[in-house]
Amino acid sequence: MKTALITGGTRGIGLAISRRLSQEGWQLALTYRSDEAAARRLSDELSQQGTAHVMLRADTADPQQMRALPRQVLDRFGRFDALVNNAGIVDDGAFLTMEPSRIARLLKTNLFGAMHLTLAALPALRQGHHPAIVMMSSLGGVIGKEGQVAYAASKGGLIGFAQWLGAACHADGIQVNAIAPGFIGSSMTDDLRPSMVDHILQGSALGRPGEAPEVAAAVSFLLQPGYVQSSTLRLDGGFNR
Ligand SMILES: NC(=O)c1ccc[n+]([C@@H]2O[C@H](COP(=O)([O-])OP(=O)(O)OC[C@H]3O[C@@H](n4cnc5c(N)ncnc54)[C@H](OP(=O)(O)O)[C@@H]3O)[C@@H](O)[C@H]2O)c1
Repeated sequence: MKTALITGGTRGIGLAISRRLSQEGWQLALTYRSDEAAARRLSDELSQQGTAHVMLRADTADPQQMRALPRQVLDRFGRFDALVNNAGIVDDGAFLTMEPSRIARLLKTNLFGAMHLTLAALPALRQGHHPAIVMMSSLGGVIGKEGQVAYAASKGGLIGFAQWLGAACHADGIQVNAIAPGFIGSSMTDDLRPSMVDHILQGSALGRPGEAPEVAAAVSFLLQPGYVQSSTLRLDGGFNR
């Protein structure tokens, strides 16, 4: 049975991806950082559905923990077919006065963690069945965003990483792509200023936030073998500002 590792797979968009892949019959290795209760709830749900899974507490900002994850997936399932680098944080603020430690934390968590994990996962993925990697970038990583400069840099880095990786890995049959969601309802966006929400919704053709299951559907698409490689799929409801 195909096996996927999803970072940050127990809440928000990651939770929707986990549920979608569970419905599609995948075995799941799911990481989280600190929310034990959310991990336990999802574990119960997956058990009821008969989905083989393992919950792994691992901080994306810790290179050693990231490099150890592929071995843990192989030890549990004996195979590793797909990696979804979904875990991420946001930390808004004026870039010119932002403390270096906050910038470093964003880059370590959102970009470097995905890089360490992906590089460690490549040997196992090469042995997988139609292996695929998806990076969870952001619209901010495509168009940049005032007040989210460091976040945008981390997410733009994932796009560049996916572009290179897709070219470097196609000979191994590994499909690599990125997704750039716009405004998706989740705990990450719960605290957005109303003026920011208005700006986003009025600037998008669909005029509504996206939903986590819509992102999960895109991940599912990019995990299927196809002609998409090194691409970034925008899921932004037609945002055009
Ligand atoms: N929501 C949006 O509008 C939006 C738009 C564009 C891109 N994205 C991206 O989509 C991804 C998921 O976002 P979301 O909205 O679902 O956020 P969320 O609801 O805040 O969930 C974030 C998930 O990532 C995990 N996580 C955070 N920091 C981590 C760390 N250092 N190590 C391991 N896991 C960590 C969290 O684990 P715990 O549960 O243990 O805290 C949680 O499972 C992020 O990469 C985000 O940047 C979101």
